[in-house]
Amino acid sequence: MHCHYSTKISCFVLFFIFHCVISCGECNLVRNFYAKSCPQVENIVRNITWNRAASHPTLPPKWLRIQFHDCFVKGCEASLLLDGLGHGVEVEKDDCNNFSLVDGYDIYDEIKVKIEKQCPQTVSCADIIALVARDSISYQLLRRMCEPNFEKTVFFDPITSFKFDNAYYKLLKQNMGMLTTDAALLQDERAISVVDELLLDNELFLKEFGKSMVKLATIGVLTGEDGEIRKNCRSVNKNT
Ligand code: HEM
Repeated sequence: MHCHYSTKISCFVLFFIFHCVISCGECNLVRNFYAKSCPQVENIVRNITWNRAASHPTLPPKWLRIQFHDCFVKGCEASLLLDGLGHGVEVEKDDCNNFSLVDGYDIYDEIKVKIEKQCPQTVSCADIIALVARDSISYQLLRRMCEPNFEKTVFFDPITSFKFDNAYYKLLKQNMGMLTTDAALLQDERAISVVDELLLDNELFLKEFGKSMVKLATIGVLTGEDGEIRKNCRSVNKNT
């Protein structure tokens, strides 16, 4: 069965892992990296992301999750977007944990085609994943979404399902977590104290969530001569 959850799912797990464990001392990353080489990139990504989000409200959570699944497995290098070539070689997309993300991948093709026309081989697929995740959150924060009438839908947070907020923690504290991993958060003293803090303060939740996403997006990023800028996010370039 397919379940659709709101975007606040497991955000806490993200805080815990990234706030406590990963530090980014070695990161060599800068803001506005494409300001000169491809200044249109931010507009292109935002327009396409917001347009798609408006007509398909179940997609923004997937784009956020795609960033997590890409970065958490050996770093943010858009390996999740690679299609299998057959011959029995498995790609990350084939993993059952990624099956429900399948309708989330098209957006990267649309964005990549548009960007390649304007700035050929300049913007990496990993950066596109990060920008789409950022813009899907900002879309949800800025707009109140129409709540579609899903059948067979299980919401992580039935109270404010389409709002990006801290309600998840309030429900969790009432033992209304959905997954075993959610329930596990209430088994750990340190986790409980963070849950208690976040459920009281939505502003704090949003701030901490932002910080955690930035940390997530810095894991194993390939810079300089490492890696390649793919022409198509679904396959590596032919000459390599
Ligand atoms: C180890 C930690 C995590 C576990 C065990 C976990 C597990 C899961 C599971 C089992 C689902 C339901 C998938 C389905 O049946 O469709 C899910 C959905 C989701 N996860 Fe996680 N997750 C984790 C961390 C995260 C993080 C860090 C993020 C955000 C960056 C995230 C974002 C999401 C989103 C947005 C969905 C809903 C996707 C949709 O509505 O289609 N998860 N997660």
